[in-house]
Amino acid sequence: MKQNVSAAMLEMTNIFGGDLHQINHAMKVYAFARIIGQAQGLDEYQQYILDLASILHDIGIPRALQVHGSAAGNFQEQEGPSVSDQILNGLEEDGEVMETVRFLIAHHHTYTNIVSPLHQILVEADFLVNLDEGNMGRLQAASVRDNIFKTSMGIQLLTRMFLNEEKESAQ
Ligand SMILES: [Fe+2]
Repeated sequence: MKQNVSAAMLEMTNIFGGDLHQINHAMKVYAFARIIGQAQGLDEYQQYILDLASILHDIGIPRALQVHGSAAGNFQEQEGPSVSDQILNGLEEDGEVMETVRFLIAHHHTYTNIVSPLHQILVEADFLVNLDEGNMGRLQAASVRDNIFKTSMGIQLLTRMFLNEEKESAQ
């Protein structure tokens, strides 16, 4: 197994240029994905793939903006995989790893028919960050928890972060 996580992170910061929001977003999703992955008992290989996918999950945004004038989820899913291929090829990553990362990037805004544990974890990690960054309210947080979240750690994190009672009384 190669150890390309830090190299992928440098490539990601390069592609996002000075866009600190995107870079910080990726690092937050990476951290949540790691925590949920550990709680789910992923083996080292699966965790490694998830590390790469979470760092690179939004890597299609600059190209989506360039080509489609929009960073909508479907355009990110469309443009991201070839950018991640380019990065991981440059790092001489294994074909199987590249393929799984490509799949995860191509489906990270697809919330129906989530069958792979890595896909589930990436979606949950991204929501834990987006619920905050997008200032989504309690109703949306509850709906995401009830309809999309499945892992025990993801559910606990979402509940404590976005649905705790103190927050309710403050609103
Ligand atoms: Fe994201």
